[in-house]
This record gives sequence, structure tokens and C-alpha cells, in this order.
Amino acid sequence: MSITDLLNNAPDTEPERQYYFIREAAKIIEKKEQELGRKLTCCVTTFGCQMNARDSEKLLGILKQIGYEETDSENADFVVYNTCTVRENANNKVYGRLGILHGYKKKNKDMMIALCGCMMQEPTVVEHLQESYKFVDLIFGTHNLYKFAELFTTSLLNKKGMIIDIWKDTDKIVENLPIQRKYPFKSGVNISFGCNNFCTYCIVPYVRGRERSRKPEDIVNEIKGLVADGVVEVMLLGQNVNSYGVGLEEKVTFAELLKMVNDIEGLKRIRFMTPHPKDLSDELIEAMATLPKVCKHMHLPLQSGSTNILKKMNRRYTKESYLELVDKLKKRIPDVAITTDIIVGFPGETEEDFLDTMDVVDKVHYDSAFTFIYSKRTGTPAATMPDQVPDDVVKDRFDRLLALVQKHGHEKVKGYEGTVQEILVEEINEQDSSLVTGKMSNNITVHFPGDASLIGNIVKVKLNCCKGFYYIGELAE
Ligand code: SAH
Ligand code: SF4
Ligand code: F3S
Repeated sequence: MSITDLLNNAPDTEPERQYYFIREAAKIIEKKEQELGRKLTCCVTTFGCQMNARDSEKLLGILKQIGYEETDSENADFVVYNTCTVRENANNKVYGRLGILHGYKKKNKDMMIALCGCMMQEPTVVEHLQESYKFVDLIFGTHNLYKFAELFTTSLLNKKGMIIDIWKDTDKIVENLPIQRKYPFKSGVNISFGCNNFCTYCIVPYVRGRERSRKPEDIVNEIKGLVADGVVEVMLLGQNVNSYGVGLEEKVTFAELLKMVNDIEGLKRIRFMTPHPKDLSDELIEAMATLPKVCKHMHLPLQSGSTNILKKMNRRYTKESYLELVDKLKKRIPDVAITTDIIVGFPGETEEDFLDTMDVVDKVHYDSAFTFIYSKRTGTPAATMPDQVPDDVVKDRFDRLLALVQKHGHEKVKGYEGTVQEILVEEINEQDSSLVTGKMSNNITVHFPGDASLIGNIVKVKLNCCKGFYYIGELAE
């Protein structure tokens, strides 16, 4: 069939239109397999955050229905890079690995390469790819990911060069497309897309668009379906989960959504990522304190402990208000695990500002922290701010901060030694197959003797021996 015929015959409504393209692509792939006398393989590589990981599961779900077999090797017939651009090194990684893919493609004339995700939403990136990476077959963005089956099929039939389809923004949410989960027993679930916060260092609002929430009934129905399929733990995903409700006709708060999810029978654990300190309501703290399935783990990005820098970052809280929030949280939920993200070297950060960050870290005593060196993102307000901090100063501050958060992390983890905890068993240990590996509700990893029959179950484990950031334990029942 020609591309024109294919498009003319396609239904106008979604997701029916995508299911049509899946069927058409499946026919083409089946024919190709017969010609080659073998199965075709695909590989989806994820860069970036949980949001991207979930998107990759959607891509893989479609590829599997089309007939591809999944492989870990990027020397495959169809390779997708789902990219991230939150820091410059995320982009560099993609360019580096594309060179290797080109080598594979020269040896396999049937190989197709697609690029999608946040990095593709940057016009300069796409221009660069068009000039210097002509061997790429398909480029699409974050807003039209649901159209993957259509774009893929068009690309399959296309004989002349790269297909590029990038949208600037969207208000659309297309539900009920195929998904291939990475883990049988746990899953990410999108609750909102995009971000309206515009922290001045951050590129996410530009590449993920305006914030929009899924309807609560769609979220609940998806989770019910997941539970019926063996899922016991969900991670509710959004750039700012606690502003959930934006754009809904009937306003539902994030805490109310948590209650609805908590009521789902058969579900055992609920996590969420990421709340913003400015929107952390008493109602949410109360929900975490009282809803039994909600893990007592709050990831509360600090970014900086200096009120002056927080203002320049447009974070809309102060050092003092953040500390008050943490106090309130700890009072209401004494065993809460608090983790964070911190950026070192934001433009204009003085030694005094940095010491404020160290002070907050010292006072909060985080269970763990992701620490990042500030990365200049073109197009964000911070990129053109004066007084960018010299590399050697940033490196020195970064090392001091890392030493402190690691010291606290060790102390926190050590505090559980000898206790019995509920562990969700996730996999057979990679190094020692007589052990299984699982997670406490606060995300600490525990290894203990066991077998594959435990995977997906929550079991009681005695934490015998602390090994820095993880435990070796034994079944307690
Ligand atoms: N929406 C989430 C996650 C955003 S990206 C949030 O607000 O927390 C994850 C983390 O990357 C951020 O928390 C921040 O610490 C870091 N980050 C974002 N932009 C960055 C930049 N330009 N340089 C360094 N780190 C950055
Ligand atoms: Fe970026 Fe801030 Fe939005 Fe998080 S809340 S995605 S850091 S702009
Ligand atoms: Fe990266 Fe996009 Fe996530 S920029 S951190 S993959 S939202």
C-alpha cells in the first residue's frame, strides 16, 4: 500500500486510528520476516526519568503488537532512543551512542533508527541531527508519542530520508494504547503531564509542555487493570504530582486521588514522584500518615538551601518555610523517609549560599539525596544570568555536599539494623542467585536468601547486616 492510501483509509478517532496502523504495520513486518526467514528484533533505550521509562513501555507495547521481538542489544532491526535533555551530559550521551548505532546500520540494511523524547523538542538538536546524522529514520517528540504506530508505519513505507514530526505543545491525552511493562509486579502510572512551574534552570516545561491532568477515573481504571494483571505497587508519576487537578473539569486534589487509589482492592503499595515543596498541603501529609498503602517516603526536592538562590530559581519557598515543612512532616509521620534533589553551582551561588544548603542538609538529615552540578540549558532564564560559578569552585562544593549526604544516608540506613521490615521482592540477586533483592517501603534495598517464587510478594525480613546503603537479611516468618 502507498503512504497516501494508508493515510486515506485510517480512522479519524483515537486510539482506533493507532490500532489501525498497528495492524497495517504488523502485515508489513510479517512479510518482511518471511523474506528474511527470521524474526525481527527491536530495542528501546531509555535516557532520563521515570516519565520517560513509562513512555518507553508504551513504545515497546506497540512494537510487540506489531510483531517485533524485544532484545537488549542495540544491534537490532529497530532501535529507539527515548532521550532526556535535563542536563547537557544527557545530550552528549545520545550523540556518542548514535555513532555506534551507525556502525550497526551499515552492516544491516534493514535496520531502522528512531529518536524521540525530550531532547527532540529542542529545535537546535533536530537541526543538528538533520545535518550530521542523516542515517536516522524517524524523529518525533514528547507530545505526539501516542502517534508512534502511525509514524512508525509511515516511516516503514517511506523510501526517502528522515521523517520528522515534532509538536510545540498539546492539550491532548490519548488513553488505552498497548503497554509492555518492564516489571510484572510494579508499574509507573502517569497522573499528569507537563509542568507549569518554570524553575529558571529547568528545561522540562519547554520540552514537556503545559501541565494537564488525567481524569481520576482513567487513572483508577488503569490501576485496577494493572492489579488484575499482577501489579502490587504503583508509582504515580508527574513533574509536580501535588498540583494534580490542573485543567480537570471537576477539581480533585492529589490527596483525594491518593484516597481513591488506596481503595483499590489487591493493590499493596503506592508511591509518587515528584511533589513540589510549594504545594505540599497538610491534606497530603495527612493522607500519607493515614492511608495504609501509601509508602512513608517523601521525595522533596530542595534544589538549594539559600533563600536568595531559591528566589533566583523561582522555587517559591524559602529556607525557613522548607524547614518548617520538614518539621511538620516529621512530627506527623515520625518514621517518614525524606529524600531530595540538590543543584550545586547555580549562577550567583556564593560560599554563603552554599553553606545554607549544607545547613539545611544537616538539619533535615535526608535518607538519600541526588546531587547535581548545575548545567546551563539554552533557552532557560538561568542560562543568561550573570556570575556563572567557576568549575573548580563548583566541584569543591559538590564534593563537600556529597560527603555530607552520604554520611547521613549511612546513618539513616544503619538505624534499621536488627529490625523486621516488609519487603517487596523484585528480582533474583544479580551477583548471587541464592539471594533475592527487594525494597523496603522507604526504598532501601535488601538482599536475602530466597527463590523466584517470592518475586512480587511482600514478605517480612529481618535486617541483619547493614552494608552501607543496603542490607543483607533473612526471612522473618
Ligand atoms: N519535576 C521534578 C524533577 C525535575 S528534573 C522536580 O521538580 O523535582 C530532576 C532534577 O534534575 C531536578 O530536581 C533538579 O535537581 C535537576 N535539574 C533540573 N535541571 C537541572 C539543570 N539545569 N542542571 C542541573 N540539575 C538540574
Ligand atoms: Fe523543572 Fe521545576 Fe518543573 Fe521540576 S517543577 S520539572 S524542576 S520546572
Ligand atoms: Fe529528562 Fe525529560 Fe525526564 S528532560 S528528566 S526525560 S522529563
